[in-house]
Amino acid sequence: MGIKQALVIGLAMASMAACGGAKKDSGGGAPKGDTLYTRLGGEAGVKGVVKDFVENNVAKDARINTFFANSDIPGFEKKLYEQICAAAGGGCTYSGKDMKTAHAGMKIKQADFDALVEDLVKALDNAKVADADKQTLLGVLGPMKADIVTEQ
Ligand code: HEM
Repeated sequence: MGIKQALVIGLAMASMAACGGAKKDSGGGAPKGDTLYTRLGGEAGVKGVVKDFVENNVAKDARINTFFANSDIPGFEKKLYEQICAAAGGGCTYSGKDMKTAHAGMKIKQADFDALVEDLVKALDNAKVADADKQTLLGVLGPMKADIVTEQ
């Protein structure tokens, strides 16, 4: 994935407006650290994991980086952030394609999927995400495999 930092920052700001920026605490005195999203470090934490995952891990992973050769990396990171935020209780709305449509025709194999998950785990480890939270997140993303892996 070719990486363009300035664009990433620009998109991060745009997605703040689209998502985290609109999120408000209820003000009822409930603890704020009580969703997977907040445990992942909220907006900054999840964006950091996504960036590390995409730009440091997948981009350098010769097993799968060719899939992303022509990708719009900032756009991909924004969608991934929204998707994780939404799945983790952060209140975002995912604006991307469904997983089947997004990966149609890519001929993604089980081994490719496993490599990508490995890269995600590395990013979660780098961010010192607790094991239980890692498992929870992978438990949410794992079932998407059925729509993503289309080749033996
Ligand atoms: C649970 C696993 C995965 C998740 C949650 C995921 C999520 C996503 C999301 C949210 C998008 C953006 C969709 C959109 O633009 O509307 C996307 C696109 C894409 N995904 Fe995945 N994906 C997964 C697995 C994989 C795997 C295993 C590969 C290949 C090894 C892959 C390759 C791609 C590529 C090449 C794109 C297009 C990026 C672009 O050009 O914008 N994905 N994926």
